[in-house]
Amino acid sequence: MAPTSDLELVTLAEAARIVGKSPHNIRDYIQRQRIGKYNTQGEQIKRARNGELFVSLKELRIFLALIEQGDAKHHHAGLHPELGFHGLPEYKRTKHVHRLHPYLGKFIPQLVEWFLSRYFKPDDVILDPFMGSGTTLVQGNEMNMHTIGIDISPFNCLIARVKTAKYDVVQARSEILEVEKHVANFSKQLTGSQDVRLPLFPEDKMEELNAGLLAECQGEYLKTWFAPRALLEMLYYRRLIPYYKYQDLLRVVLSRAVRSSRLIPHYDLATPTVPIPIGEKYWCRKHNRYCVPIDNCLVKIHAYSEDTARRLAEFDKLSSDKTVTIVQGDAQEVNLKAELSKTSIADRLVDGIFTSPPYVGQIDYHDQHVYAYELFGLPRQDDLEIGPKKRGKSKQAQKDYIKGIAAVFRNARSMLKQDAKVFVVANDRFQLYPEIAQLSGLRIVEQFHRAVTKRTEQGDDPYQETIFMMVKGSEDKFHGNDNRGSFIPQSSFRIPQSKEVFYGATCWPH
Ligand SMILES: C[S@@+](CC[C@H](N)C(=O)[O-])C[C@H]1O[C@@H](n2cnc3c(N)ncnc32)[C@H](O)[C@@H]1O
Repeated sequence: MAPTSDLELVTLAEAARIVGKSPHNIRDYIQRQRIGKYNTQGEQIKRARNGELFVSLKELRIFLALIEQGDAKHHHAGLHPELGFHGLPEYKRTKHVHRLHPYLGKFIPQLVEWFLSRYFKPDDVILDPFMGSGTTLVQGNEMNMHTIGIDISPFNCLIARVKTAKYDVVQARSEILEVEKHVANFSKQLTGSQDVRLPLFPEDKMEELNAGLLAECQGEYLKTWFAPRALLEMLYYRRLIPYYKYQDLLRVVLSRAVRSSRLIPHYDLATPTVPIPIGEKYWCRKHNRYCVPIDNCLVKIHAYSEDTARRLAEFDKLSSDKTVTIVQGDAQEVNLKAELSKTSIADRLVDGIFTSPPYVGQIDYHDQHVYAYELFGLPRQDDLEIGPKKRGKSKQAQKDYIKGIAAVFRNARSMLKQDAKVFVVANDRFQLYPEIAQLSGLRIVEQFHRAVTKRTEQGDDPYQETIFMMVKGSEDKFHGNDNRGSFIPQSSFRIPQSKEVFYGATCWPH
């Protein structure tokens, strides 16, 4: 009997028929470890008993799509069979606080866990100089490790702080639900509902209140991308925040709701280009029917309030008391020693780095949360972002990128233990990391290639990324600290010898 599983397990013959290959092809993929073998329980196995060999249709389709995309032969793929996390359901990839706020470009906690559990131990100090929304910090903390995160974007730091903070979860929950209730009442009055049990304002004061709220709204983005009702609801929520203890937590709930309340199609939350006029029907690719853009924020506040409280309580049970340090600043320059001097790990060096830097010309990290910057009046430091989308992928952009990323690792290097391990997750389509490693005084010792099938909000299109494992290189090859920005001439550049985890693995073009 065919097993039931998320992996869509089928026999070899069925797999061959469904994807239009021969059973021999499928066997070949297995032998080359491009797809896994499974038993009737859906467990990955090394040896199959007679008649009990199954393959995952899901894994197979992803693998074939990657071949097609990369215009490569399958024996060049070299994908690590465990690092694809193909069978991992969505709720696990977004477990507890990892889903407190959307963030374009975060990696999954299971990837962090895989490496931290193999190369580090409890009480180690782990640094993520491109912290983003704090995935490494949350996972490291869960695994009893001290964590340090640096990010240039104040809003990303806010998300990471909220995820890793300690709460009185009962109070946090009650604050979230109380604000939700107040905004619901405000909204009822706003829409003229008769069912207002706790009127907050006399009818004639409502107009004055709304005018006051709108006067507090400075941002062009806010004025353009939201329906009037949605705008007033979010501005009212914002006004309540200073009355509570967990203000950043409330900001995150609000920001998540605001993001989903924009006048945008349901299928494009990550990269909308123009707002849809209020009430205008559009063909929704997500729901396969006509939809209209949302006109309020309350529905989303309802959706995320209880959810946030539940997620915090879940993480509260798993989190450890290890130090979490978050530094907002340019990782090329942050003085880590001084930052740590205020913490309980002041005298410690860093055991390792686990990070995913921005990729050249891919994402504008401040811009993706423009609504939050306007809503909370956060300062922006776009100019210090390394490799932003707005600077493109040209040769010059790549040079600047190499310089910036190398400066970050050089800056971190003095805080690394001699035997520290550095893991860098990168979609290195331009093959910049060998040079970055060299300029950083690091040596690539191993490369793991993984298929990425679902990075949050980057669509279902699979692509490949590499996890570079690096160690400190010898001092004489390190053109370090004092010459930030000066380059080793190309002619003297030597690609370090590194071990590819699977034979024949090359960097895959996209
Ligand atoms: C790929 S994201 C990291 C995502 C993270 N791994 C997560 O799971 O959320 C890269 C991050 O690098 C940050 N960044 C860009 N330039 C920086 C700089 N000069 N200093 C510190 N952080 C920077 C961006 O703001 C962005 O949050």
